[in-house]
Amino acid sequence: GMGSKLAGCGSSVPKLQISNDDLAQFVETSDEWISVRTGIRNRRVLTGTENLNGLAVQAAKGALEMAEVEAENVDLVILCSSTPDDLFGGAAMIQKDLGCKSAWAFDITAACSGFIVGLITATRFIKGGGYQNILVIGADALSRYVDWTDRGTCILFGDAAGAVLVQACGGDEDGLLGFDLNSDGTGQRHLNALAKDAEPEVISSTNGAPLFPPRKSSYSCIEMNGKEVFRFAVRSVPLTIQASLDEAGLASSSVDWLLLHQANQRIIDAVATRLEIPQEKVLSNLANYGNTSAASIPLALDEAVRGGRVKKGDTIATAGFGAGLTWGSAIMRW
Ligand code: ACO
Repeated sequence: GMGSKLAGCGSSVPKLQISNDDLAQFVETSDEWISVRTGIRNRRVLTGTENLNGLAVQAAKGALEMAEVEAENVDLVILCSSTPDDLFGGAAMIQKDLGCKSAWAFDITAACSGFIVGLITATRFIKGGGYQNILVIGADALSRYVDWTDRGTCILFGDAAGAVLVQACGGDEDGLLGFDLNSDGTGQRHLNALAKDAEPEVISSTNGAPLFPPRKSSYSCIEMNGKEVFRFAVRSVPLTIQASLDEAGLASSSVDWLLLHQANQRIIDAVATRLEIPQEKVLSNLANYGNTSAASIPLALDEAVRGGRVKKGDTIATAGFGAGLTWGSAIMRW
């Protein structure tokens, strides 16, 4: 079968930056509390005419340019997002705006695991045959669903988009060395943004007879039990990475980079320690962007590649984890 390689990456963030001190102006918190507990100092938030589609298109353009692939040669666009501009999905609009004329497009909803799910999905399409170039975009604007009066959650999240171009190659050059995907709905109560029904307004027939009360839904703000999510991440992420390493036939000592979903520096540190991966091999940029959900992995990857840290041929252990609950990992060669 065909192998998959990462041929390019890109990213984009909104203009407005909100610092910890800015947050302290409207919730009872401090820069010190937030930085010590999370490692986060700043985050970006969508405002004005910005939307998620715009960020996603920018990120995807960066990936296409780096890969030197024309938009017309993309076969599939996958948008990994839980916060698209359109409830019915945002991928087709991105495909149109990029000019990916011969591609089809669809969305994946898997919260902070979305990018890993999209990445693995792309490699499965390529393995099946008939696909050369697949754009995988992780883009989220959790700011849309944050309760800005809840200091337990509003300090954590930021908006961003990141993208990779996954390209077909010979099976012997396959850059996907191993992967592992999981979900467990019993933990959904620890982290969610539930559909919420307004008081039903009964539909009546034209002669005035009451018929039925249809649902009129919107979404509640993000609710999270931080301690439980923390425990889940520190327990599950080392296990999923170990499963991927086992499939790849690699020891953690042969990993060049650990690139986790950027949720909390203490989670990243705990996972690195558990896997005995030294600090200098750990990629992190959440100080500047907070938790950007499905965007965080390609956002940090793009910074590390463009900054010259991650080089061609490097082995990256990457993992996503979050709402669902969902979690998964991949060992990829850059
Ligand atoms: N500023 C100041 N005090 C705060 C803040 C804040 N922003 N938030 C909470 N506190 C207070 C609490 O009210 C509590 O006070 P109390 O002891 O008087 O009751 C105290 O600080 C401790 O609160 P905890 O919630 O127990 O604090 P904890 O040490 O667990 O840290 C945190 C909270 C940072 C949210 C942590 O649990 C965490 O990072 N969990 C993981 C969350 C995460 O990563 N979620 C996303 C992953 S999945 C996804 O990406 C969607």
